[in-house]
Amino acid sequence: MLRVVVLVSGGGTNLQAIIDSVESGKIHDTKIVGVVSNNKNAYALERAKKHGIDQACVSPKDFETREVFNKELLKTVRAFSPDLIVLAGFLVVIPPEMIREYKNRMINIHPSLIPAFCGKGYYGLKVHEAALSRGVKIVGATVHFVDEGTDTGPIILQKAVEVEEDDTKESLQLRVMQQAEWKILPEAIDLFARGLIKVEDGKTVIQK
Ligand code: GAR
Repeated sequence: MLRVVVLVSGGGTNLQAIIDSVESGKIHDTKIVGVVSNNKNAYALERAKKHGIDQACVSPKDFETREVFNKELLKTVRAFSPDLIVLAGFLVVIPPEMIREYKNRMINIHPSLIPAFCGKGYYGLKVHEAALSRGVKIVGATVHFVDEGTDTGPIILQKAVEVEEDDTKESLQLRVMQQAEWKILPEAIDLFARGLIKVEDGKTVIQK
């Protein structure tokens, strides 16, 4: 049984997609053992509660320094003994120690086709705003392992989505979630749970 901890900051629609896929059996042999938020008002915490999933909130605002916060976040995550950490809209910089400890066992969903519209400053609606202002016709989402850089780790899955003439950043965000994020994030977790992802030379190999 794969033990998954999901880190969230906001609405938690990706968390919901994971919960639904675990409950329906689309994700095999997996349990969400905890949800950790940096924001006590995150609706994601409500979603976890409704499904009887343990939760914790660790906010940088409650700690004097980043170092103390980082230690507390790592301690909180470790307490769930996860096999896999999933960043599902978690908007806090991950402590370097945590990245090292969970190398190739921590994944992130990013709302663009990496390497487009990613890196520092590209998160949430800002990604879709940048895509619209550049006038790209195809956008999408990426699931990747987390390494020391921002959105630079080995890519696991990507899915493309077409931009429509009258898209706003909000309508584009929703379509990217519906058509890409809520599909490829559960799919990647299932591949991981079934031991089908290998990392070789900084790239993933998926066994079919
Ligand atoms: C999602 O679109 C996710 O891809 C994005 O935040 C949103 C969270 O929504 N993540 C990033 O931008 C990370 N760089 P959710 O809370 O409804 O899942």
